[in-house]
Amino acid sequence: MLDVDHLLSELTVAEKASLTSGSGFWYTAPVERLGVPRIMVSDGPHGLRAQPHDSDHVGLGGSLPATCFPTASAIASTWNPQLLHRIGAALAQEARACNLSVILGPGINMKRSPLCGRNFEYFSEDPFLAGELAVGIVGGIQSRGVGTSVKHYAANNQETDRLRVDVQADERTLREIYLPAFERVVTACQPWTVMCAYNKVNGASASENHWLLTTVLREDFGFEGLVVSDWGAVYHRVPALLAGLDLEMPPALGRSPEQIAAAVESGEVPIEVLDQRVRRVLELVSKGMPVLDLDESFDVDAHHSLARQAAAESVVLLKNDGLLPLAAGARIAVVGEFARTPRFQGAGSSQVTPTRVDVLLDELRAVYGEVPFAAGYGIGTTGDDVALRAEAQRVAAAAETVIMLIGLPGADESEGFDRTHLDLPANQLAALAAVAEVNPNVAVVLVNGATVLLGDVMPHARALAEAWLGGQAAAGGIADVLTGVVNPSGKLAETIPLRLEDNSSFLNFPGDSQVVRYGEGVFVGYRGYDRSGLDVAYPFGFGLSYTRFAFSDLGVDLRGSVAEGTLAATVTVTVANTGAVAGAEVVQVYVRDVESAVARPVRELKGFAKVSLAAGESRTVSIELDQRAFAFWSARHGAWAVEAGDFVIEAGSSSRDLPLRTTIAVEAPRLAAALDRDSTLHEWMSDPDGRRLVEAEVAGGQPAAVLTDEMVSVVGTMPMSTLANFGGMSLDHDALDRIAGAWRERSGRTNPAG
Ligand code: BGC
Repeated sequence: MLDVDHLLSELTVAEKASLTSGSGFWYTAPVERLGVPRIMVSDGPHGLRAQPHDSDHVGLGGSLPATCFPTASAIASTWNPQLLHRIGAALAQEARACNLSVILGPGINMKRSPLCGRNFEYFSEDPFLAGELAVGIVGGIQSRGVGTSVKHYAANNQETDRLRVDVQADERTLREIYLPAFERVVTACQPWTVMCAYNKVNGASASENHWLLTTVLREDFGFEGLVVSDWGAVYHRVPALLAGLDLEMPPALGRSPEQIAAAVESGEVPIEVLDQRVRRVLELVSKGMPVLDLDESFDVDAHHSLARQAAAESVVLLKNDGLLPLAAGARIAVVGEFARTPRFQGAGSSQVTPTRVDVLLDELRAVYGEVPFAAGYGIGTTGDDVALRAEAQRVAAAAETVIMLIGLPGADESEGFDRTHLDLPANQLAALAAVAEVNPNVAVVLVNGATVLLGDVMPHARALAEAWLGGQAAAGGIADVLTGVVNPSGKLAETIPLRLEDNSSFLNFPGDSQVVRYGEGVFVGYRGYDRSGLDVAYPFGFGLSYTRFAFSDLGVDLRGSVAEGTLAATVTVTVANTGAVAGAEVVQVYVRDVESAVARPVRELKGFAKVSLAAGESRTVSIELDQRAFAFWSARHGAWAVEAGDFVIEAGSSSRDLPLRTTIAVEAPRLAAALDRDSTLHEWMSDPDGRRLVEAEVAGGQPAAVLTDEMVSVVGTMPMSTLANFGGMSLDHDALDRIAGAWRERSGRTNPAG
């Protein structure tokens, strides 16, 4: 442990400044004179990319072998935070084995558009789900004495121009969609570090954004750890330091410490501010130091097995016309180059050197003996694969059932760029159509990191499973699902739309001239499709099983008080496995505010629970909702608010299969409208106190003469200060100041923010 207070009194300004930048690509800066060691950090979210010797100048070259667990889109589909906790603990063990103190992940940005090239590294289009999963994996990693870096804070939702683009989003949208996953993981786990994003948010780079780094992260969320920059995200070192950035990575050719020392010298940076940043660096080093002395290893086989279990649980069964699971001794053929040349992870900073890689063809041959195979298409080829298709038809025609793997070539989705469409490659679709022509019993398995359109797949697939990029044991996990060793329980963490154009970000993605406007506001993902009443291919939360589940007995026990911030509800649901095999179902609870002062989503996920049930078993699950589950961010009050009135609680197995539904009445103090001189006549008249005050002043207390309904509807949108200029209501500016003052006094008695 370091004695941080003592060190702060001993360090020179130059040494302090040097501590606020890294040394090399993956290390913090040491101060040998005072015994401050350097600690190592490394990517990343689903497996370590440890490069102990800074092997290349951009840190993208080879790394030590590590278990490649399923990517974020895959494990998110498990809806199983406990499983993520176990994966986190395994990742931490691998970190300990290479004396690495902080893992640079998880990535918890929202999937605003299915086109984002890095969606495979992110969990969901839903902030609640992403937050719960983040708590799982961060809790797991940190339980083993290794730190995390929750990234990329905030609103890093595209790769296009990611270092410069200015995300223009209103505060409600940020608070309700893009920040809650960070808030949840910060309040639940205090991640050792948060990594700021490259992009700007409302004009200021994330690294220089005081509102993001200090007002929201520190003051509102109570973050106690360290803010590190994304690699190269510091554009102006001194403003970044002042905004709340603690550590710059990697060091910008050593220039930053000089700039900081000079700014301290000139008084631009108070020494207390630098001390506070240095304190956080020293606290991080202190927490990370014990790992440096370890001589540990990890169990490669056990981690591979965990990766296989996770891969199987990540598979989302989208369609099954009785074809799966395969019968023992089934006469199958396998088609698809991906079955021989697996794609199991994405490209960029998260790329892992796996300890081994499962191959689907081998996995199925281990179960079924000699399994005929045809490639059917080339990966990433553009030519017409006529001969490959003909061979695939020959192989398929002779089999009972065809397992066909299709998906996205690695070059189609990656860190660094976005996709421009959601289509699967034409040669793969042509191969599928050709195979289905000679054998209708085709089970299609998809391998891709982010949503693809399935219109040309569904008609040819009697069974369809989305396996995502499932990590090094993906093939084993897929085989377990196909053969029925594992009953699929994955649920979509992102909607699969019918058309790219249906996605609410479509008109504003990826923006232009270095600006992207989040014009869809809070209507992201299913919130957008539901609001527009659009059909989708497969809804958020959807996923089939080899058994069936029935939901019954929805109960809601509401308690607490909005005024005291203690509103809470326990939702109970009974779920029964009515089929013939054991399986797991995710009970999902959605909340809707029936009537609101602002446009609110048709439904929002506010709770879920994954339940394993033997055939015939049933269980009642309880899901807790807190006050936030009912609240919206009121821009007018700059606070969360709950409105009195009816709320619909729905429960079921997907966002569009919610057989249970009840309405509850929530009592809440009237939402004070923050009335002032610039509020409109309508706003004053729709507030009971405001109305009384206006009526008492207007026309010498004879309001009926001037405040006719017609008058109010014509001039109601005018601010009172404008109306006062007209004189017609006999409400002058003095009177206006009087009623505004009186209203402010009364508003102290209401509870604007619930
Ligand atoms: C990525 C981060 C990553 C960092 C270090 C950046 O380009 O955006 O996610 O942790 O590099 O590799």
